Amino acid sequence: MPSTPLHYGSLINGEERKGSGRKSLDVRSPFDGEVIGTIDLASDEDIELALATSQSVFRNTMKKMPAHRRAEILRETGERLAERTEEFAQVLALEAGKPIRDARGEIGRAVQVLYFAADEAKKIEGELVPMDSAVGGENRIGMVRRIPIGVVVAITPFNFPLNLALHKLGPAFAAGNTVVLKPAEKTPFTSYMLAKLFEEAGLPKGALNLVMGIGSDMGEKLVTDDRVSKITFTGSPKVGKMIKNQAGLKKVTLELGSNSPNIIFNDGDIETAATSLVKGAFAFAGQVCISAQRIYVQKGVAQQFQETFVRQVKALKVGNPKEETTDIGPMITEEAAIRAEEWVAEARDQGAVLLTGGTRSGNLFEPTVLVNVEPQMKVVCQEVFAPIVSIIPFETEEEVIGYANDSDFGLQAGVFTKDINRAMRLADELETGGVWINEMSTYRQDNYPYGGVKLSGVGKEGVKYAVEDMTDIKFVGIKLG
Ligand code: SIN
Repeated sequence: MPSTPLHYGSLINGEERKGSGRKSLDVRSPFDGEVIGTIDLASDEDIELALATSQSVFRNTMKKMPAHRRAEILRETGERLAERTEEFAQVLALEAGKPIRDARGEIGRAVQVLYFAADEAKKIEGELVPMDSAVGGENRIGMVRRIPIGVVVAITPFNFPLNLALHKLGPAFAAGNTVVLKPAEKTPFTSYMLAKLFEEAGLPKGALNLVMGIGSDMGEKLVTDDRVSKITFTGSPKVGKMIKNQAGLKKVTLELGSNSPNIIFNDGDIETAATSLVKGAFAFAGQVCISAQRIYVQKGVAQQFQETFVRQVKALKVGNPKEETTDIGPMITEEAAIRAEEWVAEARDQGAVLLTGGTRSGNLFEPTVLVNVEPQMKVVCQEVFAPIVSIIPFETEEEVIGYANDSDFGLQAGVFTKDINRAMRLADELETGGVWINEMSTYRQDNYPYGGVKLSGVGKEGVKYAVEDMTDIKFVGIKLG
């Protein structure tokens, strides 16, 4: 626990807005349910002020700020974050229940995102249009300029509260936008600390306005406001669809869920596949959009893979996220853990066989491996978002492509094979936003395009690609005399 209880409000135009009759919400540790702090929720006036401030600071300050200065602020924020890694990691572990080693890993990634964003700020380019290609275009110069989009609303999830906030803030500031950030109400503290860090690094007041609140209460106001040009959201497909419907003509980027397939062929490296997929299925208790949920193994190596995999799963240590040796911490709420328990029970009633796990103690859910599953079971066809994985045997390449694509989702996939021709066929055939060869679906690096197809969302993150989505192109023509 921090030495003084955390108690924060919204941060709007550089001022903290709390107390004065605002409703407050206790934030509890997902591990032991203890109150770790309180947030005061933004009032309607706070939300209005956040939107108005974001618009005026965009028009008067951010859109006029030169690229070198935007880059400097982003780099400086990254350097300050790197210096304070341990402090941020401890709060992240506390609020999200993320094992401390993984929390440190998230801070390390967040620092890199800031550095990528600093680099991208200086690479935003335009182009010349060959005007004389059209009859009558002689003596005209046409240029295409990439300009900031304006006010961006960023709505972030609990699972990577810092890094997924930075995947939105970094590109937005690199492009010269302002942001209204609404962090998940279960993990608001690292976002507050981040907002302060940006301010210390020189971000103008009001370029980042943090509003504390519950999505279902304030989301619609943020999403429908005419001053907002772009909404970027990570969360569930249900909320993503609602946002898209409410957004009208605004641009949206929606990073939603998945039930990621991972495919191991007879010629794949079984040890490598098993070791990486143990991490890929159970990191952060499976609460990762690209978590390995379905593992398809070719029959020749199915038994060997299953034994190697289950042996490693049984060695995982479940427990207190603050302990250095913990591999798997709690799920975010007991409700989420109960839902996971029910899905496993339902699958077993329908014939699935449990190889390990399946039990719950409060928010802690044992890493669970199922076999003998069927495609229509929830643990297979829906997004499980829990430490539950199914191992499914297959015979042919064609068959497994069919299984993998038989999904409403399509974010990332993993394929393990030594055959480069097969690998490239799979890369073409799998209906996902990304395909990894000889790597788990759960691996993500922050500088490549990341985003799904089908119910997994629209638009891309990955700093360079998010900058593209957070800018508009504007034509400027000159008629020479
Ligand atoms: C996610 O769960 O959407 C993000 C995963 C990651 O950034 O590693």
